[in-house]
Amino acid sequence: MIIATTINEVREARPHGAHIGFIPTMGFLHEGHLSLIDAARDAGANFIAVSIFVNPKQFGPNEDLASYPRDETRDKALLESKNVDLLFLPAVDVMYPSGAQTTVSVGAFAKPLEGERRPGHFDGVATVVLKLFNIVQPDIAVFGRKDAQQCAVIDRMVRDLDVPVKLVFAETAREHDGLARSSRNSYLSSEERKRAPALHRALRAGEEAITHGIHDVAAVETVMRRMIDETPGIEVDYLAVVDPETFLPPLDFRREVLVAGAVRIGRTRLIDNLRVARV
Ligand code: PAJ
Repeated sequence: MIIATTINEVREARPHGAHIGFIPTMGFLHEGHLSLIDAARDAGANFIAVSIFVNPKQFGPNEDLASYPRDETRDKALLESKNVDLLFLPAVDVMYPSGAQTTVSVGAFAKPLEGERRPGHFDGVATVVLKLFNIVQPDIAVFGRKDAQQCAVIDRMVRDLDVPVKLVFAETAREHDGLARSSRNSYLSSEERKRAPALHRALRAGEEAITHGIHDVAAVETVMRRMIDETPGIEVDYLAVVDPETFLPPLDFRREVLVAGAVRIGRTRLIDNLRVARV
């Protein structure tokens, strides 16, 4: 595996004629990240590039930038074991040299749910992802549906700015009890970890309500909230039924809808979602 820390090193490592698959990450890798590598190969990539960069621009002032988990040695070993070809590990001043001014603004599209709770987050994500695309110049890039709104924001950006990359969205990898895998799960104490699957259970209850014919947003949200209330020590940030494209309340339950949630357990914020197929 080639390890590049500068933009020039990435450019020199890019093989001519290869079909480059790219997976941007913030590191502290888990099975969810590794499944994106498989998805890139399944989509035809024969050269896999992964980036690890904890992007300061997507963290709010009271968020966990300083404490975000890191383990470069373990990450490198995992990527080697997946036969990754190129790892890009830039320092902050490589991505944001002094004097940089230009950023991507994703517009009203990213205002609901995560956008409302994390102002500026999606502009920070879109800016770093566009820069990484321009540095790596992949043919294919893979993102996980665990971050459903992030997928939608990147998809919109690629279409709006004519970015020449094919996007692939991969299913959410979960623990055996349904908890979506996440680098932030490492913040959970063992007591908190026991409570964490309640988020997935709530989303499943919402899904079941919809497939059983409850086509009323408030009623489905109540079903989900009741499920969370069964587990003490979890604070709901939001539990919502939304249109999977706009992330606003669905106009029509006969199309696919998304049940999405964010909760806090102690100091840890977890998100998850499920797509509910046409009913
Ligand atoms: P990070 O949270 O490290 O996630 C990197 C990629 O892995 C994202 O596409 C995310 O959706 C995906 N992922 C995370 N958990 C997953 C799971 N359980 N199953 C499947 N995929 C999963 O998302 C980011 O980093 C950053 O915002 C980034 C896109 C790198 C921009 O900084």
